[in-house]
Amino acid sequence: MISDNLIRNQINNTLQSTNIEGLGEKFEGKVRDNYRNSNGMVIVTTDRISAFDRVLGTIPFKGQILNQLAAFWFDQTKGIVDNHLIDMPDPNVMVVRECESIPVEMVVRGYITGVTKTSAWYNYSSGVRNFCGNVLPEGLKKDQKFDHPIITPTTKTEKHDRSLSREEIIKEGLVDADLFDRMAEISLKLFDAGTRIAANHGLILADTKYEFGLLDGKIVLIDEIHTPDSSRFWFMDTYQQLFDEGKEQRKLDKEYVRTWLAGKGFLGDGDIPAIPDEVKIEAAKRYMQAYELITGRVFEAVPGNPAGRIISNLKTKGVLM
Ligand SMILES: Nc1ncnc2c1ncn2[C@@H]1O[C@H](COP(=O)(O)OP(=O)(O)OP(=O)(O)O)[C@@H](O)[C@H]1O
Ligand SMILES: [Mg+2]
Repeated sequence: MISDNLIRNQINNTLQSTNIEGLGEKFEGKVRDNYRNSNGMVIVTTDRISAFDRVLGTIPFKGQILNQLAAFWFDQTKGIVDNHLIDMPDPNVMVVRECESIPVEMVVRGYITGVTKTSAWYNYSSGVRNFCGNVLPEGLKKDQKFDHPIITPTTKTEKHDRSLSREEIIKEGLVDADLFDRMAEISLKLFDAGTRIAANHGLILADTKYEFGLLDGKIVLIDEIHTPDSSRFWFMDTYQQLFDEGKEQRKLDKEYVRTWLAGKGFLGDGDIPAIPDEVKIEAAKRYMQAYELITGRVFEAVPGNPAGRIISNLKTKGVLM
């Protein structure tokens, strides 16, 4: 495991934003900087952390971890669905196939949990029994496993995600029935693969979301997959006891930072509290632990100034002239 000192020294060297001249037109997401040029698309995963639909600051090595973890999962799941990855010229960068975007995100949940208004547990505990077209039984407890994973799609182009049922999505014309059903089938297969691989490493994949795009009419998995940003991971060995005692699960996802902020009274509106170094270090460690547990590989942090390194790697690999 990487030392606290190495992480602490990186706090002032995180990748906050990029502006790479000559790489193409830049589109900034909350976490990723995307560049589009005539040869395709380049995605730089920065160290930004987002929660409650806001960017909250940066976490050391987070971009590298997310990018390398997504690459691991793309490789593990390529037999299920094609993905956008072409090349990784730098630990923070992917060269990808640009796809026509599909305005729906496929959220898959194996367990009922969450604190935000779009979460399954929040809705269930406020009395909702039909969540995005899924009829939920009485008597569920927080963090309980569903009999089988459910799909709760959300819109993606709007400022705040909106949860919808299959029928509403089709009626609104966001995607047609055939495309939705194909995405649903792929999503459940991906979730099954993710659940099995996570379980081999002592983790529960509680829920996640997938984004797909279209390329010549074919469905392609884009963005990221099974990262601690897009998924909830819990420790398997303590799940049952904590559940029985009604306690919080031990988590390996960005919920740690979300919970810290919620403890400061921040739920998405108003000024963002400054995240102390100790919280950043702990968050970085959880991201690293997630990488190592999931992949079974040692995380090799690349310290120093990522911005300079990225440009140099892009030039060496011929991505940037
Ligand atoms: N291969 C691809 N083709 C087209 N668009 C893509 C592709 N891969 C990712 N994208 C899009 O690029 C953006 C990635 O940026 P990012 O993940 O930071 O966005 P965000 O959704 O605003 O943030 P968050 O993930 O925190 O909600 C997303 O809008 C995603 O849909
Ligand atoms: Mg995203």
